[in-house]
Amino acid sequence: MADKRPIGVFDSGLGGLTVVKEIIKELPFEDIIYFGDTGRVPYGTRSVETIKKYARQDEKFLLSQDVKLIIAACGTVSSVAGDTAKELPVPFFEVVSHASRQAVNESKNGKIAVIGTNATVKSGQHKAEILKINPNAEVITVACPLFVPLVEEGWYKGDDIIVLETVKRYLQPIIEFGADTLILGCTHYPVLSEAIKKVLGDGVVLINAGTEVAKAVAKYLKDNSLDNQNGGEAEFFVSDKPDFFKEQASVLLECEIDENKVQKVDINNL
Ligand code: DGL
Repeated sequence: MADKRPIGVFDSGLGGLTVVKEIIKELPFEDIIYFGDTGRVPYGTRSVETIKKYARQDEKFLLSQDVKLIIAACGTVSSVAGDTAKELPVPFFEVVSHASRQAVNESKNGKIAVIGTNATVKSGQHKAEILKINPNAEVITVACPLFVPLVEEGWYKGDDIIVLETVKRYLQPIIEFGADTLILGCTHYPVLSEAIKKVLGDGVVLINAGTEVAKAVAKYLKDNSLDNQNGGEAEFFVSDKPDFFKEQASVLLECEIDENKVQKVDINNL
């Protein structure tokens, strides 16, 4: 029997829209409720304790919207706060395990690179997942803290010299390591794909965590006959600056977002 309730997605801000884009591609008839914590972004520089507290509040908000499952689009939350999912009454999907599995499948030389926020890299979660699947894999993880502000500033084009130089500087150790597969372990990084491809060349496969989690959710819904055939609407909630979010969302999702589809919520006082 179809479950017409929406899919809940949350992120520390607007970056999670790269995951929403993949969900819309994979599951065009599902309704989506998105929460972006634009008032408290970034999460990637915060303590594990704070990230978990925020994740619990974000999940509580989505549950109040009667979602049928929750996706943590945020690489940071997925890496350090996955255990908050144990408390949830609905299925939970994160972006680390599916991307790690796909990276192992794609890699021919067993050398896998992961990029993410400081918190994501410190967690070691991707490495642990990869080694669970292939104990012989070699993994390099690199934090790229300047990538998020670059994207938020709208500087992400592959021909922008500042973008290219920043990408080169962060990814140099990955080139030296000889990785043939790179996990984009943060919501914002798929936006930098063009520049990353230019720097790494064709020999390195990029793994978009959003694509992998969207495929996993589609499989789960179909296997359990919980997919919706008649939806396709998305509603957005943010903790600050809904107007700014609406503009950015229209760019990232490449479609006009109606202003009454973006609402502000008081995430601290649910
Ligand atoms: N959404 C975060 C992630 O995917 C990036 C931005 C932040 O640090 O909050 O890790």
